[in-house]
Amino acid sequence: MYKELKNLDYFCKMGFPEDLSIDLATSISKLSLRNPTILASGILGSSCSLLKRIEDAGAGALTTKTITKNPREGYVNPVFVDLGYGYLNAIGLRNPGADNFSKELSKAKKNIQIPIITSIGGSSIEEFMYVAERMLESGSDALEINLSCPHVEGYGLDIGSDIKLTQQIIKQLKSISSKPLFAKISLHQSRIDILEKYIDAGLDGISAINTVKALAINIKALSPILSNIVGGLSGPCIKPIALAVVYEIYREFPDIPIIGVGGIQSPEDAVEMILVGASAVGIGSAIVRKDLEIFREITRGIGKFMLENGFKSIRELIGYIHRR
Ligand SMILES: Cc1cc2nc3c(=O)[nH]c(=O)nc-3n(C[C@H](O)[C@H](O)[C@H](O)COP(=O)(O)O)c2cc1C
Repeated sequence: MYKELKNLDYFCKMGFPEDLSIDLATSISKLSLRNPTILASGILGSSCSLLKRIEDAGAGALTTKTITKNPREGYVNPVFVDLGYGYLNAIGLRNPGADNFSKELSKAKKNIQIPIITSIGGSSIEEFMYVAERMLESGSDALEINLSCPHVEGYGLDIGSDIKLTQQIIKQLKSISSKPLFAKISLHQSRIDILEKYIDAGLDGISAINTVKALAINIKALSPILSNIVGGLSGPCIKPIALAVVYEIYREFPDIPIIGVGGIQSPEDAVEMILVGASAVGIGSAIVRKDLEIFREITRGIGKFMLENGFKSIRELIGYIHRR
């Protein structure tokens, strides 16, 4: 009865009242999500009003931009290009800095019910600890450490490539809070032996994948398109890469929750990601074309797929292809 009422309330909000017995709720570590869609880090600004719009649009949870200790202006234009088959960006971790963002986060926590995952970046253990402490004080429900941004020297991928340093960062962050700690990884950190070390250090979940390091050239101008030259590739062209990474992580660590990110544009993409092992899906670049309506479209479409294929609970779908 409770489950039915919960779903009735949920589907009325989502505009999908066809079948009340479908359960779209999922969880990642200690976070409970009304549905498996999550805003991926960095795609939208992080003002309180914008975060509220993401909840109203139907997302199950949201991830903030990566926040660093000091404000960062990012790179000069061009920082984003649509390649047709995907997107290339080098924004340069533009963000308002931990002290400014913590005020926005405190405000957001008063108005938003869905879990807020704060993405944190740093170039040292001290920086990660500083940002984490501010975010936890302001009510962040979980932290996601950015080990994978491919275009900012000393951050992201540079940190995530140093296995010992990353283990220390994870251990220290786990020592200050019992809230879930996730790592955002890219293709470059997806080696199972490396992930095992991070999990042993205390990681509660993995968000995979970040953009893939890439470059685009304008031959008419005889120059690179992005001001930073190298950027990160996202969108449809990276979906098969993300699927393979998520598949392998689930195969090796079936108890570690995975947020599958990379090229999710449609309900079918989301179902594929869940079948290979994701407990939830991160939606990034697709928002550029489809706007926030995409959260409802994907949730409704997953529900429809489940209905048509005899699945009652999203949990039955997670990692299904490993059990065939
Ligand atoms: C413009 C832009 C900015 C991004 N900024 C961040 C960021 O600050 N932190 C982060 O962890 N990932 C960042 N990402 C990566 C996305 O969260 C996501 O992992 C990636 O884009 C793949 O998903 P997609 O194909 O759905 O976009 C960014 C991606 C884009 C396109």
